[in-house]
Amino acid sequence: MSYEFPVTRNPNPKPKPDQDHLVFGQHFSDHMFTMDYDEGQGWHDGRIVPYGDISIDPASCVLHYAQMMFEGMKAYKTADGHVQLFRPHMNAKRLNRTNERMCIPQMDEELFVEAVKATVRADIDWVPEKPGTSLYVRPFIISDEVSFSVLPAKHYRFMVILCPSGPYYAANMGKLSATRIYVEDEFIRAAQGGTGFAKVGGNYAGGMKASQKAQAYHCKDVLWLDAKEHEYVEEIGTSNAFFKIGDEVITAPLGGTILPGITRDSVITLLKEWGVPVAERRLSLDDLFAAAKKGELKEVYATGTAAVISPIGTLCYKGDDFVINNNEVGALSQKLYDTLSGIQTGKIPDTRGWIERVN
Ligand code: COI
Repeated sequence: MSYEFPVTRNPNPKPKPDQDHLVFGQHFSDHMFTMDYDEGQGWHDGRIVPYGDISIDPASCVLHYAQMMFEGMKAYKTADGHVQLFRPHMNAKRLNRTNERMCIPQMDEELFVEAVKATVRADIDWVPEKPGTSLYVRPFIISDEVSFSVLPAKHYRFMVILCPSGPYYAANMGKLSATRIYVEDEFIRAAQGGTGFAKVGGNYAGGMKASQKAQAYHCKDVLWLDAKEHEYVEEIGTSNAFFKIGDEVITAPLGGTILPGITRDSVITLLKEWGVPVAERRLSLDDLFAAAKKGELKEVYATGTAAVISPIGTLCYKGDDFVINNNEVGALSQKLYDTLSGIQTGKIPDTRGWIERVN
C-alpha cells in the first residue's frame, strides 16, 4: 500500500538556528504531521500542516492518565546532499510493541515510515549538515478521547515533529567527551511487568526526581539499578549502558525492564562483527566496582538515538566518584561512534540494509 499526505505549507517559515551551536530539542521546524484514529475508521486523514500549537480538550485521557507513547529517530544529511533515516522500520516495530502494552491501536509499519519520510521531506532544508548534528524526529501518540474513565481511549492523535539538534550530552560538534553519571540507589525506573521496555512518557516522568539528584552531584544523567535488589545495572536515563571489563563488553539483557534501543542493537551487531566478546547479561554493582578497583573496567558508554555513543568518564555512587579510563574517551567508544555516524551520514557504505533514503 502506498501513502500520500496533503501538505499545507507554512506561510511564515522561521529562520533556521545556527548550526554551530545546536543543542538537543530546542528548535522546531516549520511543519508537522498529524493523523487521527477513530474506532471503525482506524488511522485516517494523515496530513502535513504548519508547525504550531494544538487544541486539546482539558478532559482528554492523556492529560490525566498518561495514555501515550513516543519514538525517537534521526534524519542525516550526506555529503552528496541526500537525506537518510537509520533503521526506521525498527522504530515502527518498537512503536507497535509499545502500543500493544499501552492499549493504543497498532499502526501499519509502512504508514509510520511514510509519515516520517513525508514530514522530513516537507522540511528537508531543516536537516543540518555540520558534524555531530542531525534532524531529530519525534513521532508520538496521545489519547485525546474526552473521558475520565480509567480505560483505553477510543480516539487518538499521531503526530511527528522535527528539531535540528546536536547530541543530547553536548559533545563538541562530532568530537566526543566523557560524561559524569549518577548511580541511583533509592528510586527505581522499571519493575518486571511494568512499562520499562515501552517508550512512554511516564517512564521519564517517574525518573525526574532522580535526575534532580544527579544534577545536585553535577551529573548529566542517572544510571538506574534493578527494582528488586537495587544491585544490577539496568540503563541510563536516556539510553542503554555498556561496560567494557577486561576484553568483554557487557550490557543488561532485554527482559521487560530495559528499553530495546536501536542503537543498542546496532552496537551489539558491530561488536560481534568485529570479534569483540559481547554479553547481554546482568552485571552487579559489586562486580562493576571490583573491576574498577582492579583496573579492569576499561570503558563505559551510553548508546541511544539522542545520546548516539556517549562515553562515561565518572560514575558517582553514594557520594564517591569512580573514574573510568582516566575520564578520557575510550578507543572502542570512539570506533563505535565513528562507524555508526559514518554509516548514518553516508561516509561509510551501508552493507547491512540499515539506511533508507528520504530524497
Ligand atoms: C531518544 O534517544 O530518541 C530518546 O527518546 C531519548 C530521549 C528521552 C531524550
